[in-house]
Order: sequence, then structure tokens, then C-alpha cells
Amino acid sequence: MISGEMPPVPKHVAIIMDGNGRWASERGLPRSVGHSKGVEAVRRTVKAAGDAGVDFLTLFAFSSENWSRPQSEVSDLMGLLRRFVRRDLAELHKSNVRIKIIGDRTDLRGDILPLLLEAEETTRNNTGLTLVIAFNYGSRDEIARATIRLAREVEAGRLKADAITPDLIGAHLDTAGIPDPDLIIRTSGEERLSNFLLWQAAYTEFVFLPQYWPDFGAEAFNEALRIFASRDRRFGGLSAKTAAVAG
Ligand code: IPE
Ligand code: IPE
Ligand code: MG
Repeated sequence: MISGEMPPVPKHVAIIMDGNGRWASERGLPRSVGHSKGVEAVRRTVKAAGDAGVDFLTLFAFSSENWSRPQSEVSDLMGLLRRFVRRDLAELHKSNVRIKIIGDRTDLRGDILPLLLEAEETTRNNTGLTLVIAFNYGSRDEIARATIRLAREVEAGRLKADAITPDLIGAHLDTAGIPDPDLIIRTSGEERLSNFLLWQAAYTEFVFLPQYWPDFGAEAFNEALRIFASRDRRFGGLSAKTAAVAG
């Protein structure tokens, strides 16, 4: 890097917010307390991402597999989402944050879907950070839904099967219009994707941090950005340095 040059800031950071339950258990507290503390970490992280100049921040809030948790925990998580939108939407809107939701919306019950739509609608013309909330999201489910839509186009005679390209598939995913994540962070020491952005993560850098999500904030976020800045991304080609030497 030329001295004085700023280290590259990722355009899109996605986070698997993990470890709420363990954070609580280690303190002898119910898992629900860990989830509430996790919401505070969300607030700190949205601010840190905006301050760092990141354009897109995706947060994995609830997976399509998380329905298999005990009913009481599922309803605690739904309650937290509800409260987060009700309490924080005005503030996020004031901060020029644009909210987008990814995940399957079809079987969300009660007031959850209207609240998510309201968050998107209120902030749709904002020009600051785009906060993508992955809710009832699973990558395989997303790819299956995109495939159904493409198959319907073919069935209707509007699309030739041979015209299906990776770009066209990408344009049918929930993340259409959102650039692929440059960096995925997972907290809690687990090192897996758990069905998160499988298609979009083809060339993503991964940073796995040991701390539990409720302990996450600007410091850990900036540490992940520093690790990202030290990585050599090649996208199947040669790094800029090697290419220059090779002429
Ligand atoms: C992440 O924390 C929050 C969600 C998955 C909704 P966990 O609830 O998975 O916490 P651990 O992994 O059990 O500690
Ligand atoms: C991934 O975490 C989902 C979210 C962070 C919302 P999980 O805790 O559900 O993942 P696994 O079960 O440990 O793989
Ligand atoms: Mg977990």
C-alpha cells in the first residue's frame, strides 16, 4: 500500500450475530436476556458501520431454521424485532438509514410483516447506510424461491432456459440490487455459515471473532475491518502486486 493511502473499507459487511444464548448462560441468566443485550449491540454496530463509511450492513437476525427453537424463545425473538422497529425506526430514519428486509415474507404472521414493510417504506428514499435485515432468511430457501420464479418465466414462455446466467439468478434472489458482501463477520467462535448468503459469499472474506454478540461493538467491528484490510483478494486472478511484478 502506498503510504498515506487509506486502507480499503468494505462496501458491504454482513454479520452472523451469534452467541446471545451462551452470553446469558455464562451469567446464569435466561437466554432472553442475551437476546435483549444483543439488540444493544445491533445499535452500536449500525452506528459503527455508518461511521466507518460502509455502504451496506446486513445483519442475520432470524434464520429459516430458527423456528425449530422452543416456542417461547421464538416469541421472545419476534417480540424483540417488534420492539426494535417500533423504538428505533424514527431514529434510523433520522440518521438517513435505508432499511431492506431479506428472507421469506410469505409465512410471517400477525403484525411482523406489516412492521417490516413499514420500516422499508418509511426509509426507502434515504441515502445513507443501507441496513439489510435478514429475517426468516435461509440461503437455500432463497435460492429455491428464485428458482421457482425463473421456472415460472420459462413455463410462461417469457424466458429461454439457455438464457439463465449467474447474473440472472442473482437478480432473482432477495439480495437483487445489493452488492455481494466483501466481509462476513461471525461472532461467538463458531466458524460456519449456517445457511447465510451462500450464493453471495463466493468471494467474501471471513472474519470469525471469539466474543459473543452482546459484547460486540465499534471496537470489534473496527478490528474486523483492519483484518479485512490486510487480506489479499484475488477473485481467481492474481493480486495487484503479483500482476505488477509479472508485468
Ligand atoms: C444468536 O444467538 C441469535 C439468534 C440466532 C437469533 P444464539 O441464540 O444463537 O446464541 P447461542 O449460539 O445459543 O449462544
Ligand atoms: C445463525 O446462528 C442464525 C443467526 C445468527 C440468526 P445459529 O445459532 O442459528 O446457527 P447454528 O445453529 O449454531 O449453526
Ligand atoms: Mg447460535
